[in-house]
Amino acid sequence: MLHLGIMHPINAVGKEQAFVDAIKILKQNHADVKALFEEVEGLGDRASARRKQIFEEIDKALTVHSQVEETIFYPAFKERAENREERLEVLEAYEEHTNVKKMLTELETTDPKTEEYSARLNVLKELVLHHVKEEEGTMFKMAREMMDREELAQLGERIAQEEEKAGLDVR
Ligand SMILES: [Fe+2]
Ligand SMILES: [Fe+2]
Repeated sequence: MLHLGIMHPINAVGKEQAFVDAIKILKQNHADVKALFEEVEGLGDRASARRKQIFEEIDKALTVHSQVEETIFYPAFKERAENREERLEVLEAYEEHTNVKKMLTELETTDPKTEEYSARLNVLKELVLHHVKEEEGTMFKMAREMMDREELAQLGERIAQEEEKAGLDVR
């Protein structure tokens, strides 16, 4: 189970809605996935059933997260990008997602008892950690410059809805 610790917007009476900023949700997704990687690392090679189970959670979390970024957050970023650096930032992110997806697909068909499985899981983790560092260290900072609070809140609302629909435990 992923616990995102995110509040739903208050759709109650009145004009004021408490939206959650898109970047906060995406960072929480990152933290959840990192925690799953740590959990899987703490397991011995013999705990293959549990490793497989955690991998399935990682797989789902990364798939849903990538999808909301690719369909909601990245397009908004791309639209706002004003220079080569910003355009490359988002293009690079799409490429990194492609690599992550490729490794997820490989792992889905690898026997969790094998050393190949451990190797692929390690590579997946490296790919994800690098990507997350790039997003949090550069891309999200650019996004904060490009978009105002309201826009980030609207994106956040859409992201939260999609994640919930996809079955991530968004609270
Ligand atoms: Fe990403
Ligand atoms: Fe991300």
